[in-house]
Amino acid sequence: MPDVCIITGGAGSMGLGAAKAIGSELDMTIVVADVSQAALDKAVAELRAAGIPAEGFKADVTDRDQVAELVAFAAAAGSVKGLLNLAGISPKGGPDYRVSCDTVFDIAVKGTVYFCQAASKAMADGGCIINISSTSPFLVPPGSMQEALYPLATEDFERFLAEMHAALEASGDEQMARNNAYVWGRRFIIWYTEWLACQVGRQGIRVVSVGPGVVDGPMVEESGLGLAKMSAVGRTGRPEELAAVYAFLMSDKASYVTGTNLMVDGGIVAALHNMKR
Ligand SMILES: NC(=O)c1ccc[n+]([C@@H]2O[C@H](COP(=O)([O-])OP(=O)(O)OC[C@H]3O[C@@H](n4cnc5c(N)ncnc54)[C@H](O)[C@@H]3O)[C@@H](O)[C@H]2O)c1
Repeated sequence: MPDVCIITGGAGSMGLGAAKAIGSELDMTIVVADVSQAALDKAVAELRAAGIPAEGFKADVTDRDQVAELVAFAAAAGSVKGLLNLAGISPKGGPDYRVSCDTVFDIAVKGTVYFCQAASKAMADGGCIINISSTSPFLVPPGSMQEALYPLATEDFERFLAEMHAALEASGDEQMARNNAYVWGRRFIIWYTEWLACQVGRQGIRVVSVGPGVVDGPMVEESGLGLAKMSAVGRTGRPEELAAVYAFLMSDKASYVTGTNLMVDGGIVAALHNMKR
């Protein structure tokens, strides 16, 4: 049975780069999941052409049943050893600028929690889960991201969602609420990663979050380019620079790395701290 890695948002720019690195360096079969069938077909064809065993599965990460079907599909293809949760949309609300703050929040948060729950059950003999945070929670004051509500997510996830949605809707106009949805969701993912790592660590499962800086792709906007310019390295990141880190974290070389958030941001957060000194 081959080792399998599921990559959500796997047809996106970071997803495809990660699939190439993990598939080739770690000799894993890649199950690429995305909402876009056309993008999925293209990604799978590109991976197979590069000699990487790959399957595509169309799934919306906010739908718990589709997540369960996808994890079952991956488990039938081999031994599920990896999960990389990259599905997400920008705080602008995606290409059509029409989605609600709840959708921005849910794609990041439901996508992470549903997959972590389903995949950690399927990872009987250990494995690695990588969730995606961001620099954005480090750009706002700690304590301003509804942190007190996060423990509720582990007790009553539906109530947690309802309370977060209500707080988001009360937090400002549509664009402000979408921004907050992105930032609070990414802060929650860091919290949840730490919590989950302690639940599953004794089963040999590692859980890590990675905070990308401004990485080339459709999500990059003017404000992001400004941040990239003031970062330590003074430029945006390339998807393959993130992919190398995902592959390392997924490998046995990172066997003692869990329950932590690794910023791969070209020094954006460091530059902000420096400005305050
Ligand atoms: N690019 C950046 O600068 C940056 C920085 C920090 C964090 N991130 C996060 O990293 C992740 C990947 O970013 P990217 O630059 O590759 O973006 P991308 O837009 O290229 O890829 C995201 C993918 O997620 C998919 N997706 C969206 N909604 C989905 C859903 N409901 N179910 C399944 N798939 C869905 C999209 O179809 C797309 O293929 C995102 O979660 C993003 O928020 C990106």
